[in-house]
Amino acid sequence: MQLYPVGIIGTGKYVPERVITNHDLEQMVDTNDEWIVTRTGIKERRMAAPDQATSDLAYHASVKALAAAGITAEELDLIIVATITPDMFFPSTACLLQDKLGAKKAAAFDLSAACSGFIYGLSTASSMIATGMYKHVLVVGAECLSRITDYTDRNTCILFGDGAGAVVLGQVPEGRGFKAFELGADGSGGELLNVRGGGSRMPSSEQSLADRSHFIYMAGSEVFKFAVRIMGGAAEEALRKADMDKSEIDLLVPHQANIRIIQSALNRLNLSEEKCMINLDRYGNVSAGSIPIALAEAVEQGRVKEGDRLVLVGFGGGLTWGAAVVVW
Ligand code: UT7
Repeated sequence: MQLYPVGIIGTGKYVPERVITNHDLEQMVDTNDEWIVTRTGIKERRMAAPDQATSDLAYHASVKALAAAGITAEELDLIIVATITPDMFFPSTACLLQDKLGAKKAAAFDLSAACSGFIYGLSTASSMIATGMYKHVLVVGAECLSRITDYTDRNTCILFGDGAGAVVLGQVPEGRGFKAFELGADGSGGELLNVRGGGSRMPSSEQSLADRSHFIYMAGSEVFKFAVRIMGGAAEEALRKADMDKSEIDLLVPHQANIRIIQSALNRLNLSEEKCMINLDRYGNVSAGSIPIALAEAVEQGRVKEGDRLVLVGFGGGLTWGAAVVVW
């Protein structure tokens, strides 16, 4: 079978206007700006307006990605939305987005791999284009995490923000595009990071509401240890598959969970901070939205040039992880 080279041909991001600073959070829980900045690197995050849901954020990011790619929504063959905060159980957020965009010829589905969802989506879309099944696929990472964040829990509420990033994937010239993916999961760690309520195991009830089980639960330090181990490891494995050395990386675009996790990955990969896209100080952790927002912002800032070698890497609930090597 002939395989076509596949790459990212357009990027876009959208974050809601409302800014929640660390000082705002000081009014809600027993915390302080100094603790949050030194332990996480986060200074502020965005919060969706009451009338905005995940598909609305995804829509704004997608419009920009389509414009950057120079194609219309009607030219899309498939839409994949990676999210853990869909507008509703079903229809999928991807279907809602398909309608908003008027992408009449596109198939559409959501993908659930928490913060690794965008990388999982890239690898799925890339395979479909490489085999010639599709020409253009829109991959979106979008979240309204504020809707599942417990603003009485200082262990988690300081971390999360809302936003969306989108990319259009298509064929690219030989030598460019995706060189390797590394995906992984360890379901035995599912208890460390989850939202237990509202599913088939624990349907919504007065009790599930009273137990606050519709909010994110996280065993922070356990997830932290996993993240430190897996970020560098997944990136190294993807590089090995791409037959590339870590010294060849021009830009690392990591999941924006915690500056200390990012720094540990930089140490392991022997990279300086200049070779890393960091924007968690302004947006916090946007789960599946973090990597595509950071990527779109790197492109906006002119930090990505033709021929640059990028490594995208993330980890999250599941537990899951994913890394991609792409030549721009
Ligand atoms: O994308 C999803 C994946 N999620 C992540 O990547 C998050 C990974 N985890 C982390 O980033 C870190 O574990 C946190 C930032 C969540 C927590 O940092 P930590 O250094 O692991 O702190 P800790 O949980 O060990 O807590 C240390 C202390 C505790 O006090 P005691 O028991 O030592 O007296 C906490 O109660 O800090 C306290 N603490 C806080 N203090 C002020 C926890 N949260 C806060 C807070 N403000 N917001």
